[in-house]
Amino acid sequence: MNAATIPQRGELFSRVAENRRRRRIAVFGLRHRSCCFAGVLPERVLEWSENHRNIDYNEGRPHSSPMEPLRQWIILNLPLRKNSALILILAAQNPCGNVSAVDSSKPSRKRIAVIPGDGIGQEVIPQAVNVIRASGANVDLTEFDWGADRYLRDGTTVPPDGFAMLSRDFDAILAGAFGDPRVKTNIHAKEILLGMRFKMDLYANVRPVRLLDAALCPLKNVEPKDVDFVVIRENTEGVYTDAGGVFKQGTPDEIATQEDINTRKGVERIIRYAFEYCERHSTLDGSPRSRVMMCDKSNAMTHAGGLWQRVFKEVSAQYPKIAAQHMYVDALCLQMVRDPRQFDVVVTNNMFGDIITDLAAGLQGGLGMAASGNIHPGKTSMFEPVHGSAPPIAGKNLANPFGAILTAAMMLAHLGFVKESEKIEGAVLKAVRQKKTTQDIGGTLGTREAGKWVADNL
Ligand code: NAD
Ligand code: IPM
Ligand code: MN
Repeated sequence: MNAATIPQRGELFSRVAENRRRRRIAVFGLRHRSCCFAGVLPERVLEWSENHRNIDYNEGRPHSSPMEPLRQWIILNLPLRKNSALILILAAQNPCGNVSAVDSSKPSRKRIAVIPGDGIGQEVIPQAVNVIRASGANVDLTEFDWGADRYLRDGTTVPPDGFAMLSRDFDAILAGAFGDPRVKTNIHAKEILLGMRFKMDLYANVRPVRLLDAALCPLKNVEPKDVDFVVIRENTEGVYTDAGGVFKQGTPDEIATQEDINTRKGVERIIRYAFEYCERHSTLDGSPRSRVMMCDKSNAMTHAGGLWQRVFKEVSAQYPKIAAQHMYVDALCLQMVRDPRQFDVVVTNNMFGDIITDLAAGLQGGLGMAASGNIHPGKTSMFEPVHGSAPPIAGKNLANPFGAILTAAMMLAHLGFVKESEKIEGAVLKAVRQKKTTQDIGGTLGTREAGKWVADNL
């Protein structure tokens, strides 16, 4: 048993993150049954709890008793599984001071699908896998050979039933990179990578931007605390739907169209995700996140931009404690290199998110350092480094494995292996500080050696 104070609404999700880090307890308090959030909160919490499958969801009834009877009621009435944590929603008019929540023990064994893919994906993912194994996380890893080699061999991009199999049989996916100069159409990358994102509806591409050491940043006078933001990229719509066509191809009158698809549902869920993320995450120094900035080009792309603007206004009004900010994408590119301290949580569409996260990777020491997760709360999510298959350096033991290793840490935290994840992040930080790194960030080690150093220093 652990006592936890029911947080104010504004602290709701950051308290969860804190508890997840330390004890994997989530206690939710609803201070008022106010119309602005009573309707949406249970659903969001349900999503969150589905995403952590070792956690049971239950809803407490309004209760005005002091803490102890309430605690007894919880223990007697909620069917808690072994190895489970408790999520409690107090839909109470009046807040109770404290309740006790039932702690969880370790997360149950998780199944991870590993898809190294092409180029340096085949070099960095094995290092990430070794590090996962060395961390002691209770996982089963199953490798799949989807990628250019398989496609060139037998024409398969994704085997029949592939996405359904991933959703059904795995808790998470660790992917490398897809793209090979031998496959000119890039069809396999489109079907595998964008296939996972679109067909598994992994709508939130979460790309943390963190500087581990001042020496890695190309900007002057910038410390790790100055580069600590996250880009939440819409991952299932926009120009990436590839809607459009080519007409009169090969003639002087040729026309190509590329549609930018933005649905209210899609825009709303990603913006809400960003606010939720902001509420429940802290910065590296432990202070709460407090700002969500929407990045768009609504001055020129007025139809899609208008929808994003309207939805942002509506959703941000439901989070009065979070500062809602806006920047056009061109200005944001300038500001990112002029003063990255301005950013906390950035939410944007699919394409802008792709572009600004390569730029942001530059602040972190390059593409070799950037991690990402493609997430749909409650569904099997996919984690991959931000970089691609990097053909010029592939097969040479030159690729930096830290982006993939940090991605693995992100995945483990998502699955509830918080201690293991922190151990991995700590070892990467140590490696960077001691220059036990690949050449791209100033070291002398190869991919295998840098990966091994992390695995040996957890
Ligand atoms: P890229 O990210 O593969 O590489 C660009 C350059 O960045 C590399 O040439 C290399 O100099 C450097 N780099 C990238 N990762 C590195 C690492 N781990 N360590 C050291 N240096 C690293 O981008 P690109 O060259 O534009 O794309 C190559 C292929 O990868 C293309 O087919 C592209 O479509 C694909 N791609 C795939 C993904 C993905 O699968 N998630 C992401 C980006 C690009
Ligand atoms: C990324 C990549 C992909 C994207 C490509 C390979 C389709 O650049 O993951 O950032 O544009 O999303
Ligand atoms: Mn990209």
